[in-house]
Amino acid sequence: MENREFYNTIFKRKSVRSYVNEPLSGEKIDEIKSFARSLKPLYPDIQTELKIISGEDVKSLIPQKKAPHYIAVFSENQEGYLTNIGFMLQQMDLYLSANGIGSCWQGIPKPSKEVLKTSRLEFVILIAFGNPKEELHRRISQFKRNSLTDITDMEGMDELLEPVRIAPSATNSQPWYFTGNNGLIHCYCKKLNFLKAKLLAKWNKIDMGIAIYHLTVSARHHKKSVEIIQDQDGEANPPKGYYYIASVIIN
Ligand SMILES: Cc1cc2nc3c(=O)[nH]c(=O)nc-3n(C[C@H](O)[C@H](O)[C@H](O)COP(=O)(O)O)c2cc1C
Repeated sequence: MENREFYNTIFKRKSVRSYVNEPLSGEKIDEIKSFARSLKPLYPDIQTELKIISGEDVKSLIPQKKAPHYIAVFSENQEGYLTNIGFMLQQMDLYLSANGIGSCWQGIPKPSKEVLKTSRLEFVILIAFGNPKEELHRRISQFKRNSLTDITDMEGMDELLEPVRIAPSATNSQPWYFTGNNGLIHCYCKKLNFLKAKLLAKWNKIDMGIAIYHLTVSARHHKKSVEIIQDQDGEANPPKGYYYIASVIIN
């Protein structure tokens, strides 16, 4: 998919939680599998595996409406692996939305034991998908998000950061903060108290990968090249209440 389509989709995508109770065609599933093979990692050395499973192979303690299909995401457990998964699978979230298919990140349910046994990697998260039984898209005014001044102290970067501001995150927690300048942006994640951390810490690292992916799409839209690095200064100087994730060089 072209960067332009990803960019436009960012401004209308939403989580879809209600699905038509019928599987997608085999042809559609094959297209999704083929796109899954083309996902760009943030950290290419981390091994990942995606499996498409049916709603019957998903278990949840909280009763939830099932989707006809889920992507079960597995990864090697290495430094940065959750952010890598957020970065990779947000490409899938945008691809599905751009192609008329509803989807939703699903942190709570888990695949069945039988599915878990089929991978030697660690299970990370599910993404539900299927034909939507509700609106697939929303208008920009319908996004419920913090303002740009809540997520950055940088000036003159509104256009670049708007697609990042409206990125999805677990429980809409929007844990991100960005500092730096138009050549180098440092990305930080909110520190949590013990109780919140039990629920959200893992997901928030995925959220950061999602936001960094939106930042790369936005930078490319503005005809800039992007490189994601670990920067010593950025790492040593987090804003109060945040910890360091990565930095983005924008040229
Ligand atoms: C890592 C992650 C985990 C999520 N887990 C769930 C979940 O278990 N159940 C659910 O209904 N939504 C889940 N969501 C969706 C968020 O609630 C949703 O993205 C957020 O409220 C923003 O809404 P939007 O996606 O419609 O823009 C998750 C999102 C992310 C990024």
